[in-house]
Amino acid sequence: MNIERTRADVMERLTQSGGQGVLRFLTCGSVDDGKSTLIGRLLYDSKLLFEDQINVLERDSRKHGTAGDEIDFALLLDGLEAEREQGITIDVAYRFFSTEKRKFVVADTPGHEQYTRNMATGASTADVAVMMIDARKGVLIQTLRHTYIARMMGIRHIVLAVNKMDLVEHSRGRFHEIVAEYLKSADELGFESITPIPMSARYGDNVTKRSDDMSWYTGPTLIEHLEGLDIDSDIQNEPFRMPVQWVNRPNLNFRGYSGTIVAGTIQPGDAIVVAQSGQAANVERIVTADGDLDEAVAGDAVTLVLNHEIDISRGDVIASAEGRPEVTDQFAAELLWMSEDDLLPGRSYLLKIGTATTPATVSALKHRVDVNTYEKKPSRKLEMNGIGFCNLSTARPIAFDPYHKIRDMGAFILVDRFTNQTVGAGMIEFGLRRASNIHHHAMDVTKEARAQIKGQKPAILWFTGLSGAGKSTVANLVERKLSQAGHHTYSLDGDNIRHGLNRDLGFTDEDRVENVRRIGEVGKLFVDSGLIVTCSFISPFRSERQMVRELVDDGEFIEVFIDAPLEVCIERDPKGLYKKAQAGEIKNFTGFDSPYEVPEAPELHIQTADLSAEEAADQVIAEIKRMGRLG
Ligand code: ADX
Repeated sequence: MNIERTRADVMERLTQSGGQGVLRFLTCGSVDDGKSTLIGRLLYDSKLLFEDQINVLERDSRKHGTAGDEIDFALLLDGLEAEREQGITIDVAYRFFSTEKRKFVVADTPGHEQYTRNMATGASTADVAVMMIDARKGVLIQTLRHTYIARMMGIRHIVLAVNKMDLVEHSRGRFHEIVAEYLKSADELGFESITPIPMSARYGDNVTKRSDDMSWYTGPTLIEHLEGLDIDSDIQNEPFRMPVQWVNRPNLNFRGYSGTIVAGTIQPGDAIVVAQSGQAANVERIVTADGDLDEAVAGDAVTLVLNHEIDISRGDVIASAEGRPEVTDQFAAELLWMSEDDLLPGRSYLLKIGTATTPATVSALKHRVDVNTYEKKPSRKLEMNGIGFCNLSTARPIAFDPYHKIRDMGAFILVDRFTNQTVGAGMIEFGLRRASNIHHHAMDVTKEARAQIKGQKPAILWFTGLSGAGKSTVANLVERKLSQAGHHTYSLDGDNIRHGLNRDLGFTDEDRVENVRRIGEVGKLFVDSGLIVTCSFISPFRSERQMVRELVDDGEFIEVFIDAPLEVCIERDPKGLYKKAQAGEIKNFTGFDSPYEVPEAPELHIQTADLSAEEAADQVIAEIKRMGRLG
């Protein structure tokens, strides 16, 4: 038996017993607080280690002699770390041990910079968080951050493990000082229990055995406390929820919907609905690899067969007909940001919730939380490890329950559309009703009808490039030529729009995102009116150009990269802005102290350094003609 398990294994073990009797906890602390030693001690004392692993450990600690005659438990975990580096587990290592009273799963979240992400992952399935504190150092900013994240991830019980008491002469005063300091902040977060325990993990003091050196402490040892903690999980009493992973259709005679039940129970005969569409049916069979079941509960992976065919696909949620989840495309959530690139409201990310994936944007950042003081502060962006409260808006409606009610129905992640990295983790608090009574009104005159009268196919000609590359000059010529040829056009230009619609925006990253988002929406309206619209904006970020591309139909977005080397732009300097930027009079100037992300696959790439504006415009027109948009 190996004590290293993958997350899938853990889920299986947990769900086998329906989560009952198992206590899941997480240890949080900074590098040297003794987290590894504590876990090592728990595993060692519960005798769940490999024999030979213990041998290696005894030998190593004797060799290194870091802990005198005692075994150095941190070494044990370092050994496991090496295993992990060989690719055994990814973010979080789950370790198992048991006592006579209870089974335990401990999520060990290693890593340094990525710590927050790992911690959030571990916390999302934990019942208890053990906050490790080095008695010499006391409460650190990190401790408060971890505490906040634990609360945000739905953990209700905290153990304040004041460790290394042996290094502060087992001082009762020091212990109480630390506890008071911690409670000053943590009290307001509303945990069900906060249990401070003075300990010395290296010697097992107050971890698995009572300490002779701290007779003033009359509370439980860590293991006693964890054994006795009542964590009544009531997820099975919530209404039935199963996000559909796949439609199982091996042949014409069988059609089932497979997934893992995340809340409630289900029996044959029960009435269900598809949350998103509201279509109803009854469960006929609950199929598993081991045969049909009379009942399945939260945690079970099953295939449901219904009494009649309805439209269901991956991403749908099958729910109890009596208690449905909310379905919305706008909601408020707490968000933990985990990327080095700031969260920029207005940028499009992929949102994954349950088995569903949809593009989404943060439509408003209401506030960020200062994790040192838990104060809410206004902010226009979130930085790495930042926590904020925001409104999100999704391209397609999602089904959810508030995170604090059903974790698996309210937890989502945001993924960067270019790097595929997970950049944020969110917890939905409530749906926003503002959009629920507004529906798209179908107009009798359509885009096609409007365009047909004009004898053309509408399009956005998106000119992107550095200031001075020639975007406006070329766009202006293109519009003139199209207009002369009898086409119907309009032109949107950075300098003009910034005097009107976007007069409130400057040149920070977040303002540029919003600038392009609004122009995209306006461009879409012009396309809908049947026009060919030229848009000339630096639009420095790939993400937002892609977002505009996706706002309109295929073929309607034509990206024209107006390319000139920075030196050429500086030399041209039509508005004298480069000079000012060089003199430090303008901040965030593109090409200087603000980035420009070169288009990867533009429809047209025009180098204006060795081309006249006239030639460039002709190339653009030739391209839109070739694309069949000029009738
Ligand atoms: S974008 O980056 O948000 O797409 P936009 O195209 O609207 O920019 O505006 C760019 C124009 O604003 C430039 O052509 C220039 O005239 C002017 N400008 C003023 N300050 C800046 C700056 N810091 N960076 C870039 N352009 C600036």
